[in-house]
Amino acid sequence: TYVVTDNCIRCKYTDCVEVCPVDCFYEGENFLVIHPDECIDCGVCEPECPAEAIKPDTEPGLDKWLKINSEFAQIWPNITVKRDAMDEAKEMDGVEGKYEKFFS
Ligand code: SF4
Ligand code: F3S
Repeated sequence: TYVVTDNCIRCKYTDCVEVCPVDCFYEGENFLVIHPDECIDCGVCEPECPAEAIKPDTEPGLDKWLKINSEFAQIWPNITVKRDAMDEAKEMDGVEGKYEKFFS
């Protein structure tokens, strides 16, 4: 599966949702997640993300993100249509450790 990772937080560009053939993105207030059981590993979303936040879970160190994607995909609503990025998207793009900063 592919997973949404830290740099999506407070950017949420949503370009990714338009290209997913199985509509497996789910939307929280500050970032999106991919449902790991629904993702068919096609990879088309990865280059579409301006924040480079989407990665295959085969990359090392993404266990935490796989868990986060998996958990929130079960409770957040599905999103299939692109919307405006968050107001602070530009400033937040590239900030390190956003999950720790904002959610712990
Ligand atoms: Fe959707 Fe393909 Fe991205 Fe998986 S890899 S989330 S199926 S676009
Ligand atoms: Fe997030 Fe990138 Fe999609 S910033 S909403 S994963 S296009």
